[in-house]
Amino acid sequence: MKTEILNVKDLNINYKNIVKGAEYLKNGEVIAIPTETVYGLAADAFNEKAIKKIFEVKGRPQDNPLLVHIYKVEQVYDICKDISKEAETMFGNFWPGSVTLIFNKKDCISDTITAGMKTVGVRFPESEIARAIIKESGTLLVAPSANLSGKPSTTSVEHCYNDLNGKIPCILDGGACSIGLESTIIDMSTPVPILLRPGAISLDDICKVIPNLIYKKDLLSVKEMDIPKAPGMKYRHYAPDAPLTLVEGEYIKTSKWIKENANENDVIICFQEFLNDFKDYQHIYSLGSFKMLNIAAQKIFDLIRECDKLNVSHIYVQAPNNSGLGNSIINRLEKASAGDIIHI
Ligand code: TXA
Ligand code: MG
Repeated sequence: MKTEILNVKDLNINYKNIVKGAEYLKNGEVIAIPTETVYGLAADAFNEKAIKKIFEVKGRPQDNPLLVHIYKVEQVYDICKDISKEAETMFGNFWPGSVTLIFNKKDCISDTITAGMKTVGVRFPESEIARAIIKESGTLLVAPSANLSGKPSTTSVEHCYNDLNGKIPCILDGGACSIGLESTIIDMSTPVPILLRPGAISLDDICKVIPNLIYKKDLLSVKEMDIPKAPGMKYRHYAPDAPLTLVEGEYIKTSKWIKENANENDVIICFQEFLNDFKDYQHIYSLGSFKMLNIAAQKIFDLIRECDKLNVSHIYVQAPNNSGLGNSIINRLEKASAGDIIHI
């Protein structure tokens, strides 16, 4: 199958390509679409054959449910029930935006989407391009991240092309994703809301609206996930080909530790402020300044993917501070490290 890339960066100039993308979706095809977080692999949420294609294309395990993407808030009432006042406060504060909310599903949402669960995750993207595609398709869209299962999420059209060329008919090119990390997921179907996945919107911002939010780090770690709440979290994820060691702690100490332990031909990924420590190294990548973690968020999946282009034996990553977006970045890097984490 030939994969065509259609530019949708400017809605005014490129709207005909939104229409073309929507045609593919109406015809039951799976296509890659941009959102502000990461690219999504989208299909019509009410076409069972199309939904199944997503699992095939990604190589995604059948027990890992998909998020449903909407373009106006009213649509959540069409597909979900038992929506609380507290949830409506979340809509007011975060929608449209990069927070995904889980509710009890109505019957119109199939078990294929939810992997047999009684709940469904709903995402109302901030990206105007994403919303235009959903609207033009005339339906709602299921969309996991547009990467092959186990690989880092895709934040550019190049990433999508690398993973999906020949497997889908079309990638809509919206340029680089402005956030670069997947949405924050909160389960609103439980008596007290639970954070299932830290992400684009920081825990601190969510807690301003839900002060009693339950956030258990253990809930998100791979080994504790025998009965996972967010099924996807139990799988190996974001993994580069070479082993990755994540070094957590005070910046000066982590930089020193990496310098003492890494070989000169290993990959070093560190904050801009420490680049000088690694002048003699061959493969050194900057996460930007540790004072601007939004830059690190934009870069992290791209850098992990870059490592796969090099024939290296080890990757060392300097962790950000564990607050704000740093918390979400650490979550992804811990998974990429498959547990090889040094605390200093
Ligand atoms: O930013 C995002 O959320 C992106 C863009 C494309 O919207 N989507 C995304 O989807 O990251 P995905 O499928 O890669 O990750 C969604 C996660 C998975 O770990 C899945 O198991 C979990 O959400 N999930 C989906 N439905 C769920 C449900 N009903 N209950 C609990 N977890 C659910
Ligand atoms: Mg994913």
